[in-house]
Amino acid sequence: MKTSKSFAVAGSVAAMALALSACGGGSTGSGSADGQTLRLALNQTETHPSYIALDNLGTKVSEATEGRLEVDVYANETLGAQQEAIQLVSDGSVEMAVVSGTQLENLNKDFQVFNLPQVFDSVEHQMSVVGDDEITGELYSSLEDQNLTVLGGLTQGTRSIYNTEGPVNTPADLDGMKIRVQESDVQLKMIELMGGAPTPMAFGEVYTALQSGVIDGAENNEISYLTQKHNEVAKYYSNTDHLVGLDYVVINTDVYEAMSEEDRATFEEQWETAVEEHTELWLSETEKAHEELEASGTEFNDVDNEAFRTALEPLIDEYVTSETAQKLYDAARAAAE
Ligand code: GCU
Repeated sequence: MKTSKSFAVAGSVAAMALALSACGGGSTGSGSADGQTLRLALNQTETHPSYIALDNLGTKVSEATEGRLEVDVYANETLGAQQEAIQLVSDGSVEMAVVSGTQLENLNKDFQVFNLPQVFDSVEHQMSVVGDDEITGELYSSLEDQNLTVLGGLTQGTRSIYNTEGPVNTPADLDGMKIRVQESDVQLKMIELMGGAPTPMAFGEVYTALQSGVIDGAENNEISYLTQKHNEVAKYYSNTDHLVGLDYVVINTDVYEAMSEEDRATFEEQWETAVEEHTELWLSETEKAHEELEASGTEFNDVDNEAFRTALEPLIDEYVTSETAQKLYDAARAAAE
């Protein structure tokens, strides 16, 4: 059942991408007589910091290249959920996407390190690591055999558990609760260790699953909890702060390499600016989201953070096993001190 449904989704997404590409151009980006449009797949709303920063990137790139390059952000999973979107970028039907690190760990296990709890202490720490070429250079080019280049990271902020039943204080409170996770080994194991029963599912399906009782809870940052309206159907948000999550922006490698040297330099420069803008927006929008949530009935509670921390410790030994993973982990931790 599940398989046939996801095939159907992938099929319709591919058909949509083909239709888009038929109106726009070929596999090196949809071209027009005087410019090339890079379509970017995003699973967030137009009010989310990632949409705002990437839409601004599009405006600035277009201005700076006098229309030779455009970036068009398609919000709300219109080009598919992340699992489909990454395939579409890889095969060149779509040029760019924002995907969670959890998707990239399915393509190269080395990405798992940055998806683990207790690797990043804060958004600032995370961004100093993922923006450092010396640490991430090889990792970001490791998917080029799949025609994917990682431009860099955008923070997902601090993630916590929320649910429909009541406040969670300790791992024991999650016993028997079905908690939605992203499609990733690390996430499955993480929720198991935190005491819940993990249920993998695409982001866009979570609202209905919470509403219908298919799941009892999920975990995310306050911005996504609010912009996806999950607060309407799961009002208990418990500050487990278990993970500083990470998104990546990926681009089709052929498309990237086909840019003129000048336009690529402009694009890269504007990308750096977009990352800075995103991080700043992230911090201010998180505060605003928190206030709005408090005012509209979300019940926040603090938890026994030490109990969750101890429960999650085994994850590091379980996933930091290869030499590359160890190097990435050590570099991340060294930057925290
Ligand atoms: C965050 C993240 C998304 C991810 C989502 C999820 O909102 O920014 O990239 O898809 O969490 O939990 O699926």
